[in-house]
Amino acid sequence: MAGQKNYLRSIQDTRLFCIVVCITVHLLLCLQIFAADEIHLVMQKPDNLNLWKRLIDHFEKENSVIVRVEISPNSSTAAHALITQKLKNSDPDLDIFLMDVIWPSELVSAGWVQALDDFFPPEEQADFFPAPISACTINGKIYGVPFETSGGLLYYRKDLLEKYGFPPPDTWDRLVHIAKYIVDKERTHNPALRGYCGQFKQYEGLVCDMQEFVLSNRGKLFDNITGESTINTSQNIAAVKYVRDEIIGKIASRGVLTYEEPEAMHSFIQGNAVFLRDWPYTWEIANNSENSRIAGKIDITVLPHFPGGESVSTLGGWQFALSSFSREKDIAIKFIKYMTSPTVQKIFALEASQTCARRSVYNDPEVLRKNPHFSKLRESFDKARPRPAIPVYPAYSDILQVFYHSAITYPDSKIEELAKEADSKVQQLVEMLYEAGIFKR
Ligand code: GLC
Repeated sequence: MAGQKNYLRSIQDTRLFCIVVCITVHLLLCLQIFAADEIHLVMQKPDNLNLWKRLIDHFEKENSVIVRVEISPNSSTAAHALITQKLKNSDPDLDIFLMDVIWPSELVSAGWVQALDDFFPPEEQADFFPAPISACTINGKIYGVPFETSGGLLYYRKDLLEKYGFPPPDTWDRLVHIAKYIVDKERTHNPALRGYCGQFKQYEGLVCDMQEFVLSNRGKLFDNITGESTINTSQNIAAVKYVRDEIIGKIASRGVLTYEEPEAMHSFIQGNAVFLRDWPYTWEIANNSENSRIAGKIDITVLPHFPGGESVSTLGGWQFALSSFSREKDIAIKFIKYMTSPTVQKIFALEASQTCARRSVYNDPEVLRKNPHFSKLRESFDKARPRPAIPVYPAYSDILQVFYHSAITYPDSKIEELAKEADSKVQQLVEMLYEAGIFKR
């Protein structure tokens, strides 16, 4: 009897012990979760969400950290507004963000981003494309680690061009001719088909697209040596007129005046455009038959040019930047190193056809097998043309956006007058830079 009682008590003790252990473990786990470092990343919604999730999960596990991701609007202009709002408020919750290649000089002069030289020395920088490295280097210090580097490309419907016996166009006139011809022949088959699609909404993407037209007509937007705005030149005006008179409402629908990248790409992958001007990441999406009606029917080439001009691709791309107000700088730097490491860059190239910022990825046999077009892209990114390097770039871009959009939207727009007005607004901005000592005479 006594033995049975002792036995029962020992069972009760064991149960109690187990409960206490469970509660303690639970409490410890909770405490550990609350104590875990947390970093906050702001970026645009990636097309390859699962890949990002997998890589972030891995980093979180390896480093016992939580990476909180906030999705910004897709447009570079709107993302800039959100991020600079946080930086303006010295928001300590923002640690890392993806920074467009045109933002560094503004963010650095405001003191909002941290120099990264200690962990990103020149030996490390050497593997990256020089253009984004130079965009991130201000007064000899580096303020961003390039993650994705890109340039504008011409996508085309290989099946349709082959069907009608056209090689890809080298000039804009040729593109217009092919587009009209194919749309006309395919009309009964696909009444929704248009010749051309691109980014013509009033936002940063418009500046990228228009720079390609203007520079491929031997135009120039800004003279860095004289500090003079050169929007109102005959080459620039002719290129803008061409877009207004031959592209908008002609081979492209008037709807493109409201298109950013997603709308333009959507129209192309629905099979509703012969040509598309876009960035390299569209390759993977357009060739994925789950979302695209034209998988396997497309190819890419360089953008056309005007007679006497050369093909021009605007330099684009995103870099990791660290906020000066971050309270978690060490772990944030670890994250940036991880996401820009050769291994992770290769994973992005293999699984998302992302055009990485590390040049060595473009020589990797496995990457080239998966993305044969990468061999051409490395050279094209080496030659891609940056947008004017003006320290108050967003204000400058605003002037260009307003000019281009009004010039190409109204068929009777007074392009020369609008260009003159834009030049004088840029000159006022430049004067302010001289007065502030940012530009030197
Ligand atoms: C792409 C480019 C970026 C550019 C933007 C414009 O995201 O990478 O540099 O500013 O498009 O829409």
